[in-house]
Amino acid sequence: MDNEREVDQATRRAFFDQVRRHTGIAMSERKWALLEGRLRRRVRELALPGYRDYLHVLEAKPEEVRDFIDLVTTNETSFFRTPRIWEYFAGQFLPRWFETHGGTPLRVWSAAASSGEEAYTVAMLCEEFRGRHPAFRYRILATDIGDAILRKAAAARYQGRSIEGLGQTHPDLLARYFSAADDGFVADPALRANVTFRKHNLHEAARDIGTMDVTLLRNVLIYFDAAGQQVVLENVRRAMAPDGVLIVGESESLSRFDMGFAFEQPLIYRNEVRP
Ligand SMILES: C[S@@+](CC[C@H](N)C(=O)[O-])C[C@H]1O[C@@H](n2cnc3c(N)ncnc32)[C@H](O)[C@@H]1O
Repeated sequence: MDNEREVDQATRRAFFDQVRRHTGIAMSERKWALLEGRLRRRVRELALPGYRDYLHVLEAKPEEVRDFIDLVTTNETSFFRTPRIWEYFAGQFLPRWFETHGGTPLRVWSAAASSGEEAYTVAMLCEEFRGRHPAFRYRILATDIGDAILRKAAAARYQGRSIEGLGQTHPDLLARYFSAADDGFVADPALRANVTFRKHNLHEAARDIGTMDVTLLRNVLIYFDAAGQQVVLENVRRAMAPDGVLIVGESESLSRFDMGFAFEQPLIYRNEVRP
C-alpha cells in the first residue's frame, strides 16, 4: 500500500474533490493527514494496493460513496453541548413559544444530528416542559448525511464519554429518560417517540423537510467554505417558518451573510423573511 509520502498531489486533490462533491466539505492540503488516516483503514479493508485504486472504486461503485461519506465526516457531539443554548431554549424560547402558540406542535430540526445527542437533548427539554404544560406538543426531525451515524442515532444507545457526560451534568434527566442496556444506556420510548431520523445533505434543497420553527445548524458550517455556507444557509432558511429561530455552533457566525437572518443573541438568529 502507498505510504503517506508516496501519495502525490494529484491523488490528494482527487480525494479533496470527491469529499467536496459528496458532502460539500472543503478540505485542503493541511487536512490530508487527517483524511489519509481515515482512508487507510478502508483501503486496507478492501485489500487495495493503494489510494489511487480506492479512487477508482469510488467512481466504479456508487454504493461505496456511502462508506466514503461515513469515513470523511467528523461526528463529534455531546448531550447539552454549549449549555448557554439550552438555557435559552428551555428558559426563554419554550415559555414564549407556548404562550403565543399554545398546543400547535413545535417543529424542531436538528440539521446535522450526528449520533443524536442534540436531538435527544431537545426531546428531554421538551418532555420536561410538557410535564409542566400538558398541552405542549413538539416534533423533532434529525438529519445527517452519514448513514452509519444515523443508524446509531436512531438506535439511541449510548456508552462511554457520551452518556457519562449526561450523567455528570444532568443525572436527573439520565435517570428519567434512559434505561441501562448492555454496557451503556438506551433512550426510553417516550423520548424517542417524537424524534424522526432521515438522511439529508444540507447542500441539497430541503424540499421534503417541511417548515421548521427551530433549526439547530451547529458545528457543521465550519466544514464548508464561504460559498458552501451560503448555499446551506439559503437551503435551511427556505425550510424555516417566518420568525423561526436558527441556532449555530460556538465558532460559527452569520455576520458576513446578508440573507434574512436577524441577530437575536450570540449564536441565535431569527428568520425575518416573509413568504
Ligand atoms: C461535528 S458534527 C455536529 C453534530 C451536532 N450538530 C453538534 O453540534 O454537536 C457534524 C455533523 O455534520 C454532518 N455533515 C457533514 N456534512 C454534511 C452535509 N453536507 N449535510 C448534512 N450533514 C453533514 C456530519 O456527518 C456530522 O455528523
